[in-house]
Amino acid sequence: MATEDKELRHIGIIMDGNGRWAKSRFMPRIVGHHAGVKAVERVVRAAADLKIPYLSLYAFSTENWSRPQNEVSGLMAIFKHYLAAKLNELYEEGVRLRVSGRVNMLPKPLCDALLEAEEKTKNNSRIQLIACINYGGRQELLDAFNKIIKSDNFNNKIELTENILQQYLYLPDVPDPDLIIRTSGELRLSNFLLWEAAYSELYFTNKYWPDMNKEDLNEAINSFKVRNRRYGKI
Ligand code: IPE
Ligand code: IPE
Ligand code: MG
Repeated sequence: MATEDKELRHIGIIMDGNGRWAKSRFMPRIVGHHAGVKAVERVVRAAADLKIPYLSLYAFSTENWSRPQNEVSGLMAIFKHYLAAKLNELYEEGVRLRVSGRVNMLPKPLCDALLEAEEKTKNNSRIQLIACINYGGRQELLDAFNKIIKSDNFNNKIELTENILQQYLYLPDVPDPDLIIRTSGELRLSNFLLWEAAYSELYFTNKYWPDMNKEDLNEAINSFKVRNRRYGKI
């Protein structure tokens, strides 16, 4: 009998397709990123209403620095502006904001704003919203290994286990994502949560991220509910 684990604690979303959404409307890519912010607001609200405890949003990968400089600085400006404009609202709505990624390599004002937002919302518990910014799955593992080789665990030559490694991830207390959604029709992880996604259910939709709404989130969740999660068992 298949294991039936329908508990949905953590959804991860690869928010893709902002550029193509704008291009299909003959507009500059940055307009797509602005429209993407609106989708973030819709989806965070929908996830909170559905009582999803953790929502991770992939907003900027370690590889996205290779984009044209004006797009990168445009995105950094959007993140900073969104935080300044929406932090109070997020706080009032009970959202706990957390960041995952190499945050201290972001522009200083953005890094400071993110850390302040984490601090301000740290006692909120309705939903944990995890912003993956300057995040890379391989980089997260490298950062973990580099911390481990400098730690007592390494000096004592303790055998590395999954549990020890877990403690060196960016957010050790966050459960693995049960469901990972990617928009825009691309069928890949693009360096998102490589360790944590080992047994995640994957869901792909052709919709571009700025078109994503509550109904689309529900569709993904309904698909998750009929999956058989076997974890290698039968
Ligand atoms: C996702 O949309 C947002 C980020 C990666 C920052 P894209 O900007 O990748 O949009 P497409 O994939 O080029 O359409
Ligand atoms: C993945 O999207 C990163 C984010 C959504 C932040 P990309 O658009 O960067 O991924 P690739 O390059 O198509 O794999
Ligand atoms: Mg893309």
